[in-house]
Amino acid sequence: MQMLVTGGAGFIGSNFVHAVVRDRPGVRVTVLDSLTYAGSRRSLSTINDSIDFVEGDIADADLVDSLVAHADAVVHFAAESHNDNSLADPSPFLQTNIIGTYTLLQAVREHDVRYHHVSTDEVYGDLELNDPTRFTEHTPYNPSSPYSATKAASDMLVRAWVRSFGVRATLSNCSNNYGPYQHIEKFIPRQITNILTGVRPKLYGVGKNVRDWIHVEDHNAAVWRILESGEIGRTYLIGADGELDNLSVVRMILELMDKDPEDFDHVADRAGHDLRYAIDSSALRNELGWQPRYNDFRSGLRATIDWYRENQTWWENIKGAVELRYHVQGA
Ligand code: NAD
Ligand code: DAU
Repeated sequence: MQMLVTGGAGFIGSNFVHAVVRDRPGVRVTVLDSLTYAGSRRSLSTINDSIDFVEGDIADADLVDSLVAHADAVVHFAAESHNDNSLADPSPFLQTNIIGTYTLLQAVREHDVRYHHVSTDEVYGDLELNDPTRFTEHTPYNPSSPYSATKAASDMLVRAWVRSFGVRATLSNCSNNYGPYQHIEKFIPRQITNILTGVRPKLYGVGKNVRDWIHVEDHNAAVWRILESGEIGRTYLIGADGELDNLSVVRMILELMDKDPEDFDHVADRAGHDLRYAIDSSALRNELGWQPRYNDFRSGLRATIDWYRENQTWWENIKGAVELRYHVQGA
């Protein structure tokens, strides 16, 4: 089987490619990735000989068409993925997340190739802290940021290409991932690498915002399950019942790194900051038999801290630039 994985040099995509190489000997992966600031060949360096890597843009129609023509399946992870960046400059988000997805859809339509679209729970907007309901696949779309609005637009394109053109696609909307190879602009690795470089962690606002954490391996196992057994045209929500507020997470990181749990700074809050995400993944569990394996966030976080400690060469040369960008934002 030939599989095209877009964004395979990013956080979730590289973990997915590692898992396929490790667990699926009959699958040959081609990664298509334009190596933006968020992508790194080094995330794939230990499996370089087992995959094919193409540096290129998902909005390059000729390139995409030539790659899709030889694929049995496409798994689409490539995106501009960071909310803060989308507030500073939405333009690459529209180009990659919307035009890039459109370009892929046209190619899978032309060559009748199975397609899985990786998306986010942020398309549903946010929930109140004390709201007992959680997001389901029937929750109306209500995105808040330029990032989540472009992901919502890309989801709609997929649904339209299924209905209008018979494209064989599935969609998944997942909550916040953590684990190895996550870019250090994101909340958890930013705080871990702050502490490792002698900088106090930075918490937006008072830190009451809740995220529903899932280990990246659990997300990717669910994507594989949907690719194998998901119903065409369906959306599956992926989540591992991991709700925690940001204050608790920052304190846990400090404690696990033998620091005073109060040794962090409150910084400027994010504009339009979503309050709470929470996923009801019962359809995925009941219909496709998926279960998360990383049910203990604390031990998953400890392993993630160890990974960043042991892989400083993966992140140390970009730390200064990432923090400079935050400094300009006052965060
Ligand atoms: P990431 O930013 O770590 O990686 C994105 C990758 O896409 C990078 O390797 C980058 O070089 C590549 N890319 C960007 N623009 C491209 C283009 N025009 N052409 C080709 N490649 C391009 O992102 P991530 O956190 O791994 O997220 C992957 C996917 O999962 C995204 O679609 C995101 O919306 C979705 N998602 C992420 C999370 C999360 O918690 N990180 C949760 C749910 C869904
Ligand atoms: O819910 C899924 C989404 O999760 C994905 O679609 C996005 O691609 C991914 O980036 C993530 O979005 P968030 O905005 O939730 O993640 P981020 O890591 O940027 O922030 C997590 C929370 O931590 C959020 O409430 C903002 C807060 N935060 C973030 C940073 C970078 C801080 O308090 N301090 C920080 O330094």
